[in-house]
Parts: sequence; structure tokens; C-alpha cells
Amino acid sequence: MGTYIHGYLEEEQKRLLEQAGFLNSLIYPWIDLSQSKNLLEIGSGVGGQTRILLEKFPELSITCVEIEARQLAQAKHNLSKFQDRNVELIQQDASQLQVDKKFDSAFICWVLEHISQPQNVLERIFSHLESGAIIYVTEVFNSSFQFFPKLQGLTEYYQAYNSFQIQHGGNPDIGLQLGNLLHQAGFEKIELITGGFHLDQSQPEKLKLMTDYWKSLMLSSAAEMVDSGIIENTLVKRMESDLDKLATDSKAVFFYQFIQAKAFKP
Ligand SMILES: C[S@@+](CC[C@H](N)C(=O)[O-])C[C@H]1O[C@@H](n2cnc3c(N)ncnc32)[C@H](O)[C@@H]1O
Repeated sequence: MGTYIHGYLEEEQKRLLEQAGFLNSLIYPWIDLSQSKNLLEIGSGVGGQTRILLEKFPELSITCVEIEARQLAQAKHNLSKFQDRNVELIQQDASQLQVDKKFDSAFICWVLEHISQPQNVLERIFSHLESGAIIYVTEVFNSSFQFFPKLQGLTEYYQAYNSFQIQHGGNPDIGLQLGNLLHQAGFEKIELITGGFHLDQSQPEKLKLMTDYWKSLMLSSAAEMVDSGIIENTLVKRMESDLDKLATDSKAVFFYQFIQAKAFKP
């Protein structure tokens, strides 16, 4: 299992909830769980995606599996308005998943990137699904990030950020491997799509929202990276100031792709 690089402070829990809302319109157009009744959500964090799933699919019951008790406590709070819905929160390491029932669907978003043995997790999920069940996975492809103009502070920080994740057992390009991983776990009818952002000064407000979001994402590992000695505080400041420059530069471009997979258990 990898070490979680974003930590569990209150500010980070708030960021996760906001992130789910911010990326909602990009992640969900492809996701259709209207035929599902019992969903297994892995790495549900503070319930940011769970909330959206419950709203979008009123018939859905959800079992959330999350390794960290502090996330589950916050998820309980964030999901309190859904008391009339069937939501179960379970504290467990997904690579040793053991739940006493089978599901007709599974959902994972921004989790496999943090896990050193993602294959185990997909195999455990597979064994908990009914035949014909559908799985949706959304994961990062960090090497796809391109920006213009080239700004040294952001470049160096981003390299360190990705190296830090690798050092902690994660994979910042796990999205590229989703097809292979699902295939090896036994899933069939695998489909992959890319989603993401390609922003410039033709949409300055969206660009500014994105650079602000990206700053909060980058900062979410800053304290851990500084504490571990991989970067100095000055680089954190340079990264922040470069993202501010990117928001206002007349030739700015911000490009990033994540990867989504859909597959079925035969
Ligand atoms: C980036 S957060 C994403 C949370 C949620 N899926 C979302 O999109 O808002 C990743 C979550 O996966 C959890 N996680 C990491 N490794 C795990 C494991 N082995 N089993 C279960 N949960 C895990 C972390 O504790 C964290 O809450």
C-alpha cells in the first residue's frame, strides 16, 4: 500500500469536497449508473463523489470503503442530508477488501494513483461484483500536463510533486494503465476515454479558476514535501507565483488530461 501524499488535515478534507464539485461537469457526463442498485465506492474520502452519485442516481445504494477513519468521520458529516438513502461507510484497506455482499457496480475516482498494488484492489473489487456488473474508474495522467509560457518554479515543483508520489508508492500516470489493469483483473468490454482541460486567454475566467484549483492541488502536498526535505519553501512560493502569472499572461495555455475507464465483469 502507498502512503497517502495529501494528508488528512481539515483544509485538505475541505479541498477534496470542493474538488469533486469543481470537476463534476467533466467527470460525470460519461458515467451512467441509472441501471444500478448497489454501488461499491472505493476510496470514498470525505464523500465528495458519494454526494454527487447520490444526487445523480436517486435509486442507488452506496457502500463506501475508505482506509482512513478521519475521512469517514468527515464523510458522515458531509452525507448527513442523505439520511433517507442507503449509505454504508466501511473502514477498510481496499487491497484486502472483504465485504459480506456482492455489488452490481463499482466506482473509483483519484484513488489507484495512491496505491502501490492497484492490481490487488481491482481483483478484490472483481471478486465482490455480480456477473454483468459495471465498473467506472477515473484516474490521473500527470505527464499530460502542459503549460505555456514555460515557468521554472512550476516546472520544478511539478517534477518534485510527481517524484514524491512515486517515492510513496503511488503512480502519477496510473490512468495510462487502466486498460491493462482492468484486463488483468478479469474485466471485459473495457472502454477508455480521456477528459480534461485545454484553457487559454479566450476563456480568462475559466483559466483563472483552473490555476487557482491547481494551486490548491499542488499545495495539498507542500508541507509533507518540505518536511521530507525534497523541496524548500522558496519553491512552494515560486510555484504559487508562477500559477498567478499563468492566469494573467496574454499567451497562457493550460492543458491536462485525465483518463476514465468503463468495464464489465463477464
Ligand atoms: C484523493 S482522495 C479521493 C477521494 C474521493 N474518491 C474523491 O474523489 O473525492 C483518495 C482517497 O483514497 C483513500 N485511500 C488510499 N488508499 C486506500 C486504500 N488502500 N483503501 C481504501 N482507501 C484508500 C485515501 O485515504 C483518500 O481518502
